Amino acid sequence: MKNIVILISGSGSNMAAIVRAAEQGRWAERLNARVAAVLSNRTDAQGLDFAKDHGIPTTVLDHKAFASREDFDAALMAEIDQHAPALVVLAGFMRILTPGFVAHYAGRLLNIHPSLLPAFPGLNTHQRAIDAGCKFAGATVHQVTSELDHGAILAQAVVPVLAGDTADTLAARVLTQEHLIYPQAVAGYLAQSPMRSNRG
Ligand code: GAR
Repeated sequence: MKNIVILISGSGSNMAAIVRAAEQGRWAERLNARVAAVLSNRTDAQGLDFAKDHGIPTTVLDHKAFASREDFDAALMAEIDQHAPALVVLAGFMRILTPGFVAHYAGRLLNIHPSLLPAFPGLNTHQRAIDAGCKFAGATVHQVTSELDHGAILAQAVVPVLAGDTADTLAARVLTQEHLIYPQAVAGYLAQSPMRSNRG
C-alpha cells in the first residue's frame, strides 16, 4: 500500500479534499494508496477533527517546543517515517522546511501554493496579485525543493481577478480550485510512483 502523509497547520480544507477524493475515488482499490496520517504543527489546526472523523490517525508536533528548526524537522521526519510514505503532501503547512528535510523526501514531497508560480512565491499572494493589477490569479501544485515555492509544476488552476476583489474574495475563489487540482495531482503522482516497502 502506498502511504500518503499530509501535513497541515490550519483549516485543512485541501487535506479534506484529498481525503474525500481518496474515499470517493476508491484510491485503496484503484491506486493501492491511502491517507495514512495527518500531522500538524499546531494543536488548534481545525483540520485535525476532520481527519479523526474519517478514521485517519493524527499527530501534533508543536514547533514551539523545539529549540531549533533542525530539531523540529528531525522530530517531524521521525514521525512521518513511521508511515514509510510514498508521498508527503504539504497542505497549508506554514513552516519553512530545512534543506535536510527537503532532501530526505526528494521526489515525494508536494506542496500547493496560492499563486500562479513562478509569480508571487511567499506570503500575501492574493493581495500582491491584486496590487500588481493581475487579471488572473490561481494556484500551483509543485514538487518541493530547497528554494521556497520552487520546483517542478504538476498542476495549475487559473482564476480571474474580478473588479472589486479583495484578498479574501480572491482567496476563496482560488481555494475552490485548489480543492480540485490538488487531489487530481496527488492521484496522478500516485499512479506513476514506484511502490515503497512499508508495514501496511
Ligand atoms: C491554501 O490556500 C494553500 O494554498 C495555502 O494555504 C491555504 C491552506 O488552506 N498554502 C500556502 O500559502 C503555502 N505557502 P487549507 O488549510 O484550508 O488547505
